[in-house]
Amino acid sequence: MKIKMIVYSYTHNTLHLIQEWAQRLNQHDVQIASIHAVDEDPNVKAITLSEKPSVDGQDHLVFATCVRGFALAPIMEAYLKQIPNLRGQKCTLVLTHYFPFDAWGGNQAMHQFKHLVEAKGGIVTATFIYSRSRKSKAQKESLLSHVPQA
Ligand SMILES: Cc1cc2nc3c(=O)[nH]c(=O)nc-3n(C[C@H](O)[C@H](O)[C@H](O)COP(=O)(O)O)c2cc1C
Repeated sequence: MKIKMIVYSYTHNTLHLIQEWAQRLNQHDVQIASIHAVDEDPNVKAITLSEKPSVDGQDHLVFATCVRGFALAPIMEAYLKQIPNLRGQKCTLVLTHYFPFDAWGGNQAMHQFKHLVEAKGGIVTATFIYSRSRKSKAQKESLLSHVPQA
């Protein structure tokens, strides 16, 4: 199965988690691609994307990023708003955040994330949130043991 993991990760926490998951899925054709903006300073309001990975030709897409100010990272939001229609493409969404409870921004950001992907015609088959301060082995393992649906 062709799986593309499209990541926006500023301090590489999300990227490292995704790399660990990709290693577990080594029986599949997994590619990791990063989104970048010209200026990634969290205080910058006007976002210009410099790397916009293609969403074409995959059996499954993973979008992964972090929570910023109780919301989805604005660079991921900007990226999702400019991609073409996903036409029923199955997708998994992954968020990392710092606070110990997902209710402190994670759930809210995931709601926004899912809404943006569904607005582009994507079918969200699974969602995962990982809190870096809680460091729950169960929360991490639920992602690492997950096999995306074709
Ligand atoms: C500007 C900024 C705002 C953040 N806002 C939140 C927040 O509202 N809730 C939270 O739990 N973590 C928040 N964080 C922490 C990040 O979500 C967390 O460190 C995440 O794992 C970073 O992912 P990355 O290393 O892939 O960029 C914030 C971090 C930054 C830099």
